[in-house]
Amino acid sequence: MTGVVTDACIKCKHMDCVEVCPVDAFYEGENMLVINPVECVDCGCCVEACPVDAIVFGDEPRAKPWLELNAKYSALWPNVTFDGGQTPADADQFQAVAGKFELYFSPRPGAGDIGSPVGVARTSACSRCHDETALGKIMRIVRRLWR
Ligand code: F3S
Repeated sequence: MTGVVTDACIKCKHMDCVEVCPVDAFYEGENMLVINPVECVDCGCCVEACPVDAIVFGDEPRAKPWLELNAKYSALWPNVTFDGGQTPADADQFQAVAGKFELYFSPRPGAGDIGSPVGVARTSACSRCHDETALGKIMRIVRRLWR
């Protein structure tokens, strides 16, 4: 089961999720990101990292309306693997806005990595994914499946 970006990301784009994804499964639209469900390894790092709770696991009820959108647009939008300063200056103003999809969703692609400032590198890898043992990873996935 994949992670799913919901409409809460629209107009917020905090980018913390991209920085911790161990498999670079994020794709950038004009004002939100999506996750490629085939590439996602369901580690949960991005779910915990998003400051506005915009990402859920695919088997949660909140994910259902957004599963298809993530699959569709991750095939159309460019890959984004690091925070290139995409967060809008007024992101906080949109955090609690209801109906963001109807009001603000854009099918246009974002710039992805190509549009980010040259020389910006990944600054923070998720320590859980990168440092834990293989057994630890397996146990975490098993615990996740039993929830
Ligand atoms: Fe969006 Fe949250 Fe990532 S606001 S860009 S899903 S950190």
